[in-house]
Amino acid sequence: MVPQPDHQPISYGFLFILFFSSIISAKYACKLTERSSLMSFSLSLSSPPLNWTSVDCCRWEGITCDQDGLVTQLLLPSKGLKGGIFPSSLANLTHLTHLNLSHNSLYGSLNQTGFFSSLNRLEILDLSSNLLSGELPASLPSRNVIRMVDLSSNHLHGEIPSSFFQQAWNLTSFSVGNNTLTGSIPSSICLHSSPSIRLLDFSFNKFSGKFFPD
Ligand SMILES: *[C@@H]1O[C@H](CO)[C@@H](O)[C@H](O)[C@H]1NC(C)=O
Ligand SMILES: *[C@@H]1O[C@H](CO)[C@@H](O)[C@H](O)[C@H]1NC(C)=O
Ligand SMILES: *[C@@H]1O[C@H](CO)[C@@H](O)[C@H](O)[C@H]1NC(C)=O
Ligand SMILES: *[C@@H]1O[C@H](CO)[C@@H](O)[C@H](O)[C@H]1NC(C)=O
Ligand SMILES: *[C@@H]1O[C@H](CO)[C@@H](O)[C@H](O)[C@H]1NC(C)=O
Ligand SMILES: *[C@@H]1O[C@H](CO)[C@@H](O)[C@H](O)[C@H]1NC(C)=O
Repeated sequence: MVPQPDHQPISYGFLFILFFSSIISAKYACKLTERSSLMSFSLSLSSPPLNWTSVDCCRWEGITCDQDGLVTQLLLPSKGLKGGIFPSSLANLTHLTHLNLSHNSLYGSLNQTGFFSSLNRLEILDLSSNLLSGELPASLPSRNVIRMVDLSSNHLHGEIPSSFFQQAWNLTSFSVGNNTLTGSIPSSICLHSSPSIRLLDFSFNKFSGKFFPD
């Protein structure tokens, strides 16, 4: 039998795809999964649109990637961002070390399963001066890695869970000032957290009772 004539176009097509994907992976550092997480974060904002249009998401405003094209920093403070961010595709950016979305109008609850627990490399978290509400989650994200947490000037309420500071050995700066948190400040801040704490801000809340009662 004569070989089927349509074999050749198929293998040319295959080579063509290989050729193109090698160009794309060489030229664009950004991983497609990271791009799609960022796109869906951007689409969840009602305004203003971020100028996130080019192919390589590692070159987008506010984004820093590592050599593997994984997003490590998302820094968009004071950009007038409006929208609900939790639950969020940000949870899929599991290589984030720096997240700074302070001074925007982002709302939602931090107590969403998945968000804090998936960001287990986070070192810097600044969500201050937004419209976040609800209770704090059971523990800090990336417990023994995180260094700075600023959740001040939001609408957080409820008690700080007693387990919140467990294993926060590297924590140097923590602020929940200017919220409506209640109850007492858990002793785990003394027992379990970093010896090198430099800043603790619990001011302008509705705490009551003794300091460190348990
Ligand atoms: C985030 O990850 C989950 C689970 O892997 C997946 O189902 C979802 O589609 C991802 N979302 C985005 C925007 O990539
Ligand atoms: C959007 O970003 C691109 C670079 O990624 C820049 O060339 C362009 O001027 C920006 N547009 C606006 C409206 O800022
Ligand atoms: C977040 O960004 C703002 C504005 O640039 C800056 O003042 C603040 O220090 C940053 N937060 C952290 C924890 O670095
Ligand atoms: C957070 O949410 C979960 C379920 O969604 C709930 O059981 C828990 O009491 C809430 N508060 C804290 C501080 O975890
Ligand atoms: C804690 O911080 C120290 C020094 O800043 C660093 O060497 C260490 O790796 C950090 N621990 C974790 C678990 O990241
Ligand atoms: C406290 O937070 C409110 C919004 O919740 C804000 O308007 C006000 O400026 C903040 N106050 C301080 C001292 O940061």
